[in-house]
Amino acid sequence: MATGDIEVARSVSALRQAVASWRARRERVGLVPTMGAIHDGHLALVRAARGGCERVVASLFVNPTQFAPTEDFAAYPRNETADLAAFQRAGADLVFIPTVAEMYPPGFATSVLVGGVSEGLDGAFRPGHFTGVATVVAKLLLQSLSDAAYFGEKDYQQLMVVRRLVRDLDIPVRIEGVATVREPDGLALSSRNAYLSSAERRIAPLLYRVLCDSAAALAQDPDAVSGTLERGIAALQAGGFVVDYLELRGASDLAPMLLLAGPARLLAAVHLGRTRLIDNIAVAPI
Ligand code: PAJ
Repeated sequence: MATGDIEVARSVSALRQAVASWRARRERVGLVPTMGAIHDGHLALVRAARGGCERVVASLFVNPTQFAPTEDFAAYPRNETADLAAFQRAGADLVFIPTVAEMYPPGFATSVLVGGVSEGLDGAFRPGHFTGVATVVAKLLLQSLSDAAYFGEKDYQQLMVVRRLVRDLDIPVRIEGVATVREPDGLALSSRNAYLSSAERRIAPLLYRVLCDSAAALAQDPDAVSGTLERGIAALQAGGFVVDYLELRGASDLAPMLLLAGPARLLAAVHLGRTRLIDNIAVAPI
């Protein structure tokens, strides 16, 4: 079915048909998995895919298995018409919009549990989340058989989980990470920013400021990890956040770092009112 120029596939077979016709012409296919509520962060992934592949498939699926019963699955913002228009403007060729029944038909009984990088951080605060993510991403990669798939560094642990997944299961796809797109005041774009009240929206950029200040302090004093993180947590709490974690981890294996001894990532998750925000930045010793 076509909506303007952009094609929409609602079944796996329709997706496979479109991709097969492109691959028959030796066109490379890039996949951009999303849950919709499209913003410029998602569109940066579409543009990166556009740059690396002749054809771009975006997927739009609010994946129930990655939400805990207490989380915002029902409330998650959904606006298919606006999302399709945004994908079209950014240059996607096709949007895959499966139903829950298409992805998880009756009797569905398989899940993909990635160990290691999915433990700790969000894995500790959102039990089962990364199994839901890994399962749906494995399905999307195998359904689309794309040459490359694009994920944001905004969800850095997710990106590491996906890299581990494709290596461990020998899924023949190139995983590309894309830098976080931010508002002018530093707040990382997120579909969940829509939940923030105007007062909370004014506080929210403090998360990125604390990450930057902590990273600068660590670069100056690579041994002072625990003190720097404690000061960062205190600054976040003073600003009005409830802090899940602020941690320094190895950039590629996410192993805890007691001193800044190589490429690292500073990752944080906080609550601001009813909204949970995550962010992270690279940290390197000078
Ligand atoms: P969603 O939150 O919709 O994000 C889709 C993709 O956009 C992810 O790769 C995410 O990292 C990226 N993204 C979000 N905000 C970004 C920003 N400000 N800058 C750059 N990239 C950004 O992440 C998911 O959906 C789901 O877990 C999914 C992978 C689709 C599996 O269901």
